[in-house]
Amino acid sequence: MLRTHTCGQLRKSDVGTEVTLCGWVESKRDHGGAVFIDLRDRYGITQVVIGPPEANADLINEAGRVSAESVILIRGTVTERLEGKTNEKLDTGAIEVRSEHFEVLNGCETPPFTPSQSDLPGEDLRLKYRFLDLRRREMQRAMVLRSTIVKTMRDYFAEHDFIDVETPILGRSTPEGARDYLVPSRVHPANFYALPQSPQLYKQILMVAGFDRYIQVAKCFRDEDLRADRQPEFTQLDLEMSFVDADDVMGLIDGLVAKTAKEVLGKEVRTPLPRMTFEEAMRRFGSDAPDLRFGMEIVDVTPVAKKTEFRVFRGTADSGGFVRGITVKDAAAKYSRRQIDELTEYVKADFGAKGLAWFRVEEDGSLWSPISKNFEAEHLAEIKELLGGETGDLLMFLADSWEVTCKGLAGLRKRLASELGLIDPEELNCSWVTEFPMFDRDEETGRWNAMHHPFTAPLESDLPSLKDKPQDCRAQAYDLVINGSEAGGGTIRIHDQATQSDVFELLGIDAETAEDRFGFLLNALKYGAPPHGGIALGIDRWVMLFAGLENIREVIAFPKTQKAADLMTEAPGSVDKDQLAELHLRTAKTGK
Ligand code: AMO
Ligand code: AMP
Repeated sequence: MLRTHTCGQLRKSDVGTEVTLCGWVESKRDHGGAVFIDLRDRYGITQVVIGPPEANADLINEAGRVSAESVILIRGTVTERLEGKTNEKLDTGAIEVRSEHFEVLNGCETPPFTPSQSDLPGEDLRLKYRFLDLRRREMQRAMVLRSTIVKTMRDYFAEHDFIDVETPILGRSTPEGARDYLVPSRVHPANFYALPQSPQLYKQILMVAGFDRYIQVAKCFRDEDLRADRQPEFTQLDLEMSFVDADDVMGLIDGLVAKTAKEVLGKEVRTPLPRMTFEEAMRRFGSDAPDLRFGMEIVDVTPVAKKTEFRVFRGTADSGGFVRGITVKDAAAKYSRRQIDELTEYVKADFGAKGLAWFRVEEDGSLWSPISKNFEAEHLAEIKELLGGETGDLLMFLADSWEVTCKGLAGLRKRLASELGLIDPEELNCSWVTEFPMFDRDEETGRWNAMHHPFTAPLESDLPSLKDKPQDCRAQAYDLVINGSEAGGGTIRIHDQATQSDVFELLGIDAETAEDRFGFLLNALKYGAPPHGGIALGIDRWVMLFAGLENIREVIAFPKTQKAADLMTEAPGSVDKDQLAELHLRTAKTGK
């Protein structure tokens, strides 16, 4: 090893020791006759002093010339800092190393930004120079956290007898509902591999093979529209178990959540984690991944709306729609008319709402709004009662379809909670949402889609409705929700042929298509498939949520932009004509 210690290691007890340190020049101060360098590596920063009597004039001059972010090696003696010169902020702040030997291992050109600068450069620049960006302390902390979380997960599953099995990256399309990334085959002209959207089919086959408990830290690829919490390439902690029901899987993950929170953040999470059905989540929070760190629950006032004269409320209620609202505590004085207009535009633009009706609870307890004249006092009183409105509160309502009221009010909840500072950034709120519907209908085509994937088992009690009332059929499905984000999702799988055929039929997958797409799985299921189920946890999201960050790119070493590009390597890139020809491909467009 070139070094004897790291830059975060030395303490007062090391005073007098001869040490060799290596690291990057974080900053340098030339104090005429002595050069002070803050030497950094991933463990910390140590102050190095190059000056007489330890160093000669040549050495001092050389140190004075070294540029920021160069990699250097120094040898010297640990000395106690003078009184008043200690730095409480540094673990090594009680000492400095007085150097008699200094070597530049590698210089550094003038960087476009330095890891220690206080103003964060634009994200494009950070991604292009990711090697510099990753030197920033926040990034290093995030990557260490990520590594610790993955290790905690691996340890936990090893303790529970899970076997780590790798599944292929080059394979057949998997049914997770996104677009595939395809890889052309050279040896099979006009044929393509699909990168896995998840190891779903392989892990089920591992259960048929008798592995009983499988885990994998698995790379997944989905060509879908990106958001702050989605990447085209992401990592799952994927697992599958035999002879289990939904309670078993959730119970196992409860233990993992508690262990990770304790070991990584030193936080106690009480288990079993609370559970809520999908129906309840949509009814109370308008979302299948509700943020339970604050209240503002949705209340249905449709029955009252039916009695009022207000055209918008009555018309919607009479035509089978819903009028639902939320109480925003103590917000009347905080939101001006202009700000409420902005919220109205937000629900219209983002969720297709037709407007936003609102009331202020006045000093005398009455409700006031530009539309209040359309209401009888007794109906206003009923509305206030239902929403638990008190003086100073704002009550906000959407009159629309179930879906629009859900999405719009969930969006409002989130935005208002953040604007009003209702969220405790230290809280880690974990819960389960269960009993998802088996299917949802594609509005355009009228076809049923599998809400999770087509191998998900219905609830036993709902089996009778599978064929005739698919909209009522619930699944043995469960999502883990952390602070309002979907942090994991899984199901118990179908393991009998008849139910699987019924589900395929409903999804409009005929026998031939099923055979073509998943024939190998269906075949395996005929050869002694045990009852099984599992889950996949979004590792990137876990790290993001555990770190209290809002952007998944902050916890991935080399992430892609919103346009799925890697700015550092400039992927995706064009390829030679010859390479295309070898793959039997011709592109319709050329260039970028
Ligand atoms: P699902 O599609 O719900 O389930 O994915 C599991 C978890 O992976 C995370 N996730 C993502 N993270 C970052 N970027 C993305 N684009 C992205 N997509 C999903 C989420 C999600 O909860 N095979 C099933 C699991 C199973 O049934 O066992 C599956 O993939 O946190
Ligand atoms: P209008 O009669 O369309 O001018 O609407 C009167 C008020 O009701 C305005 O504040 C609108 O934003 C609101 N509004 C209109 N349509 C809806 C709706 N579907 N849901 C909730 N509020 C609405």
